[in-house]
Amino acid sequence: MAINYDIVKPRIGAAVHADRAQLRDPDFARECLELLDERAVLVFPEIGLTDEEQLAFTDMLGERSVFASRVPTDDGEETEFYKITLDPKIKKDNQYVLATFFWHMDGVTVESDPPKATLLSARQVSAEGGETEFANTFAAYEALPDKEKARLESLRVVHSVYAGVRPILDYSVTPEEWGGESVKTEQPLVWTHESGRKSLLLGVQMESIVGMELVEGRALISRLLEWATQPEFKYRHKWSEGDLVIWKNLGAMHRVIPYDAASGRLMHRTSLANMKVAA
Ligand code: OGA
Ligand code: MN
Repeated sequence: MAINYDIVKPRIGAAVHADRAQLRDPDFARECLELLDERAVLVFPEIGLTDEEQLAFTDMLGERSVFASRVPTDDGEETEFYKITLDPKIKKDNQYVLATFFWHMDGVTVESDPPKATLLSARQVSAEGGETEFANTFAAYEALPDKEKARLESLRVVHSVYAGVRPILDYSVTPEEWGGESVKTEQPLVWTHESGRKSLLLGVQMESIVGMELVEGRALISRLLEWATQPEFKYRHKWSEGDLVIWKNLGAMHRVIPYDAASGRLMHRTSLANMKVAA
């Protein structure tokens, strides 16, 4: 069975035309993973999965990451889904959700081996804002001159929770209030995927470049963010209820356009764990 899809933009995205029954087919799941490696973001317009179907499809695609259960949440039942919402009735501590307004990749500040892919389905959409923007960092890497690729490949980057939430905080808030040194990871700037394809591992959670002067490193970080978010690498998804979007986490930097808590916007997220790649 060949997967039926349209290219969304030349350098990012595919819209997959499938019905819910196909999602139980292991061959279809394998083809989705291949397409995800190629396109970085897959959209399943208004496929309308139930929670059970989303969990079953996640499991069909690979090993489910328990990342969700390690993120602070209010309701003890959030072990299978991570609910993305600003609705105070569902989530009192909304700071991590507010931080999704800024470019990031999921889980890179807490995992040395961050999630491989994220599945997000729209349960309730916002009338104003709430579109999700994706930047294909495979394409951004591949478009660099060879000399620059080689230079970047040797670099390692410190990512911190504090840097990730910095844009939503008042200047008086200190790193210690966000776990300080304990919530930092060091990641390669260039990530090699199982397929052998490479992408840039980017986001506002980048704090410094290892072995580089702070200011020089931050200037590089700022240029890389600008480079990767050029229009040709980017796709903005306007959600309809029932849409499912899957992104290759370390190849699809993303952020959401601000929306109001009162909109009731609610997304259900599951994640796929990364497999260790032999060095
Ligand atoms: C996420 C995320 C963006 C959105 O779930 O990791 O960044 O559109 N979500 O809610
Ligand atoms: Mn995210």
